[in-house]
Amino acid sequence: MFFEEEDMWWCNLEVILMSATQDKGTHVGEFREYEKTTPRSKEIYDSLRKIMPAGVESNFRLLDPYPFYVDRGKGSRIWDVDGNEYIDFLNGQGMILLGHDIPKIREAVEEQIRKGAGFAIPTELGLKASRLVCDLVPSVDMVRFANSGTEATMHAIRLARGFTGKDKIAKSEGGYHGVHDQVLWALYAPEKFMGDRRKPKPAIYSNGIPSCLSDLTVIIPFNDLEATEEILRKNASELACLIVEPVLGNAGCLLPKDGYLHEVEKICQENEILLILDEVITGFRLGPGGGQERLGLHPDLTTLGKAIGGGMPVAAFGGKKEIMEKIIPDEKKWPMHTMHGGTYNAHPVCMAASIAALEIYKEGAFYPAMERISDELFKGLKEISQDAGFNVQMSHIGAMGFMYFSDTEVKVVRDALTANWGMLFKWGMHALKRGVLFGHPKGEKIIMSAAHNQEDLDISFKVAKECFAELKKQL
Ligand SMILES: Cc1ncc(COP(=O)(O)O)c(C=O)c1O
Repeated sequence: MFFEEEDMWWCNLEVILMSATQDKGTHVGEFREYEKTTPRSKEIYDSLRKIMPAGVESNFRLLDPYPFYVDRGKGSRIWDVDGNEYIDFLNGQGMILLGHDIPKIREAVEEQIRKGAGFAIPTELGLKASRLVCDLVPSVDMVRFANSGTEATMHAIRLARGFTGKDKIAKSEGGYHGVHDQVLWALYAPEKFMGDRRKPKPAIYSNGIPSCLSDLTVIIPFNDLEATEEILRKNASELACLIVEPVLGNAGCLLPKDGYLHEVEKICQENEILLILDEVITGFRLGPGGGQERLGLHPDLTTLGKAIGGGMPVAAFGGKKEIMEKIIPDEKKWPMHTMHGGTYNAHPVCMAASIAALEIYKEGAFYPAMERISDELFKGLKEISQDAGFNVQMSHIGAMGFMYFSDTEVKVVRDALTANWGMLFKWGMHALKRGVLFGHPKGEKIIMSAAHNQEDLDISFKVAKECFAELKKQL
């Protein structure tokens, strides 16, 4: 362990992550039933971890004692390699908005793959997909495609720097924008590294990131307007951009206080700091125009991912024409452009899926029912937790939400990060054993899709009650 004992309360999430790799067996006794029903997953894990670190493709997939490996999905359900069925409220961490295996998307992919998988030459599909994005996302005049949210935020930040000629970036504490070097700062860490809650420090999140990047990284405390304003104004002459999510989806589901983001937008405009709204999760999920349409925001640049691809790896960044056109090479200058490129950009098979999905989002018929079912789920879970005598702060907007196990209201990032994530993990594992994946037990939020229905809710409520009862026994 590299943290001091007194730091441990602070970093429940990290403990859970580490327990999968270092503290082997922390939860093994408690979750013996999980082992009984997932023998094939265990075999895969035991083989895979010899040739893939921790036996998972992403550190966010770590699970103690071992992850289950998925075989297929249909609608609101997924099945693992042992044949166990789960109601899926993880939905590919947000990439699935309509449900698994949507015929229109599948057919579009099949048709395109017959024409050839990839060319690295522009296709007409790029035009169709771009039109849909520009039509749907209010602030996007022009768009370029990428392959992951990480790439999209990396390019948007470069573009902001290229356009403004300034080097520093601001981001929120607890805000997640992917895994490139410039954004893996101040996610969470032992408190001594995070600094004052009103003046958060850029706490490094990973080895291998040049420490000098901390000089270019300014951290704001989301939802503390006074402190945010002071920090942004103080650094304004050096700040190229502020990158922020409309809803902090990686500190649970922390909603912005009324007017907070509108004021932040104003401060950015007054100080020539570009506002990059990271809508990798919220894009299309909070409505066809995403979080910006729902909350009435006007960012300079927007990043999109997850739902945009209808399950395929598609991401995008876009925004004001004069900023986006900085990508175009000007041969009379050096450097001649703000570079954006990539072999797989606007990959035809992915574009075909994206167009099929975006057309359904544009038509929009599924949103009211999805929102109603989502509201019902979060309201029901809140009631069940109260009846069971647990202090749960439920936070949700549209088809995403989070249950903070916390005695106090969760208003700012530090409240979110100091909630009892360990308790959530135990609750989530009890649910997993019973066939409901309420987000990832390790702390991923609950993510709904248009495929969830009343039957899913009825089963989920029954399971939720049993899980609280199990937790109570353990207290
Ligand atoms: C808000 C936000 N931005 C960026 C990313 C990075 O996306 P990707 O995992 O596709 O790189 C994520 C992923 O969860 C995200 O939630």
